[in-house]
Amino acid sequence: MAINWYPGHMAIARKAAAESMRKIDLVIEVLDARIPHASCNPMFEALRRQGQRPALKLLNKADFADPEETRRWLQHYNAQPDVKAISLCAKRPKDIQRIPGLCQAMVPGRGTRLKPLRMMILGIPNVGKSTLMNGLLGRHVAPVGDEPAITKHQMLHSLGTGMTLMDTPGMLWKAMTQDVSYRLAATHGIGRAAYEDEDVAAYLADYLVRQYPALLTKRFGPLADNCDGHGLLEAIAQVRCLARKAGGLDIARAATTLLNEFRSGALGPISLETVEQMRLRSPYRDDLA
Ligand code: G4P
Repeated sequence: MAINWYPGHMAIARKAAAESMRKIDLVIEVLDARIPHASCNPMFEALRRQGQRPALKLLNKADFADPEETRRWLQHYNAQPDVKAISLCAKRPKDIQRIPGLCQAMVPGRGTRLKPLRMMILGIPNVGKSTLMNGLLGRHVAPVGDEPAITKHQMLHSLGTGMTLMDTPGMLWKAMTQDVSYRLAATHGIGRAAYEDEDVAAYLADYLVRQYPALLTKRFGPLADNCDGHGLLEAIAQVRCLARKAGGLDIARAATTLLNEFRSGALGPISLETVEQMRLRSPYRDDLA
């Protein structure tokens, strides 16, 4: 069953973003490089295309993602009209410094005191929008936290002379598919109260044993032949000596361990979706293909 997490302030924020779209020249969309497709809110993309606004897509947290998959995602997005995509780590000042110049190049004729370049930052919760805002503005304007949906209102900031930047709250959308919701939960784009760690970890474990067996072996030791997601959780419980008081392996703690180690990057650079999978799985979100 898909996870449903759509706090009330997100519906209000959606309306505000739709109104603001008319008053801006460029959208800066922050995506999670590990899940560029699942972390793209189809509502943003629809609003942007309707409003015919160009987008700079930032595949953030690239330090956590599989570099080869990130390269393919960038190729995919950079082939789209009115889109420029780069990967970055918003915590690195050098990466942030590239952004104003890229924005300016996308909208020639704007960027002066008389005709400022007006930009809006969009992204789902926890992709690093606040980190990026603080880096761009060189001061602390947005709270950063590893808990989704901290920023709740739109804020307008000026970025030197000739550029303005509208910050928006992280927004999700209703009726997302199970695949998308589990990937968002695995990367912590959805609040913890909306799902059980064990369900999300089982989904993540299934994906990892198929796509990244070598990284798992490096972290948790050799896995049995034909090991599946549940087998991985059992192996983690065994290797970390996680036992229940009543006896038997503590699979719930193994699930939390797997999620924490994936989220912190301890397992190594991992992406949870590829361009090829997205194309094959369409029409699960063919609005964005
Ligand atoms: P949001 O506004 O989109 O909700 O995201 P926010 O900037 O609050 O960032 C969410 C978490 O992601 C923060 O972690 C932040 O430090 C981290 N983060 C943002 N960009 C990157 C990146 O490019 N790479 C990595 N590895 N992490 C990033 P946190 O646990 O709250 O803070 P901290 O312990 O990292 O300081």
